[in-house]
Amino acid sequence: MTKENTKESVTLTNNSTGKTLELPLLSGSVGPKVMDIRALYGDMDIFTYDPGYTSTGSCRSAITYIDGDAGVLLHRGYPINQLAEHGDYLEVAYAILKGELPNSAQKAKFVNDVTRHSMVHEQINFFFRGFRRDSHPMAVLCGVVGAMAAFYHDSIDINDPHHRMVASYRLIAKMPTVVAWTYKYAMGQPFIYPKNNLGYAENFLHMMFATPCEEYKVSPVLARAMDRILILHADHEQNASTSTVRLAGSSGANPFACIAAGIASLWGPAHGGANEAVLAMLHEIGSKERIPEFIARAKDKNDPFRLMGFGHRVYKNYDPRATILQKTGPDVLTELGVQDEPLLQLAIELERIALSDPYFVERKLFPNVDFYSGIIFRAMGIPTSMFTSLFALARTVGWIAQWNEMLTDPEQKIGRPRQLYTGSPQREYVPLDKRG
Ligand code: SDX
Repeated sequence: MTKENTKESVTLTNNSTGKTLELPLLSGSVGPKVMDIRALYGDMDIFTYDPGYTSTGSCRSAITYIDGDAGVLLHRGYPINQLAEHGDYLEVAYAILKGELPNSAQKAKFVNDVTRHSMVHEQINFFFRGFRRDSHPMAVLCGVVGAMAAFYHDSIDINDPHHRMVASYRLIAKMPTVVAWTYKYAMGQPFIYPKNNLGYAENFLHMMFATPCEEYKVSPVLARAMDRILILHADHEQNASTSTVRLAGSSGANPFACIAAGIASLWGPAHGGANEAVLAMLHEIGSKERIPEFIARAKDKNDPFRLMGFGHRVYKNYDPRATILQKTGPDVLTELGVQDEPLLQLAIELERIALSDPYFVERKLFPNVDFYSGIIFRAMGIPTSMFTSLFALARTVGWIAQWNEMLTDPEQKIGRPRQLYTGSPQREYVPLDKRG
């Protein structure tokens, strides 16, 4: 819903040429207006310059809205805390993918359809064997998801809405299986197949921790906690990995390749890899006594160390997802009888000290979703190397919803940013025997 308010505009004046240009100011349903600069280069022969896109909107989107100052996150208008408290992952995924929370019949059909697409082609089983057992799970996940395009030729015509929806359902349904199998492969344990009588998060935990040797019952508390964590990671506007998926998709690449590109981007420690980096940081800090040393390093411009799990490009307040995890974490640890988990106590103390330090307060560096998620994953028995893969599992619905939205947006075209060129002006080729 965009109000094309043709009355509002911004006038730019190029003081070196005296040329002016009036640019439309577009309003969304909520949030900052945007200045439509599409006429800029053609009219004024200048580009904008915005490394990291700190002030640039890349698209119109109706999926997720973040108010960074207020610490608000909405999916299709529903606040994240209400979705996490009252909803479950598949109904949130339905809303993100289709625009509205499902009614009972719609939810039952969606759950049934996703459940019955959770197996992968049996040949994919052999794909894992090309990797070393000690490969990082994200490397395996990237490879296997990209290779899924080789198996599902019947759903990669991106211009066919039915193909797009089939590919969307397949990716949402099969990611838990592929992610769980990256863990089983690393453990040297046999793959556990999905069971159609289990819920989405429950099925994933069963594939992670069951073995063929005995019945394995997933704790309902852990299944609910995992389901809630998946909700918290489902989508987040135009973050780095989502923008990667959109850019890859803008060339017409197939959905499996686009999601593999998103997985690769999410892996970075500044993005989804931060949950794994938080645990490594907490282990390195080791004790409350060493917290001041690491706070000082985080503030030292000559030290590349940053406080992992802190700060965010958009949130200049608490990340609402961190707030929810901060509350649900102790419940999970108590259920597991590890409520005195030293790492949780260390994290709480680190947060307390950081948020009393002017450096963090002035820069509005609050805990983000990655600060607490790893501690909960670890308490659930998930190895640190799997944390980002779980983030990718949850974010798949966001990536694929944004990919669908991009492909059906009449204004979207292949993404092709320009640059400020700082290299050599044209010069003549110098023969080898004439070079210094
Ligand atoms: C995710 O975009 C999303 O929505 C992402 C995400 C999602 O759901 O998709 O929310 C998931 O990626 C969460 C972020 C996880 N990353 C981390 O926790 C890594 C640590 N955080 C930082 O790397 C950083 O805060 C970023 C990358 C998250 C944000 O970086 P920005 O917006 O580019 O901010 P910046 O680097 O310009 O920092 C502004 C200032 C700088 O200091 P000054 O130059 O002003 O003196 O704050 C400092 C930075 O040095 N700073 C930090 C810091 N984060 C920023 N200093 C110490 N520790 C930190 N963590």
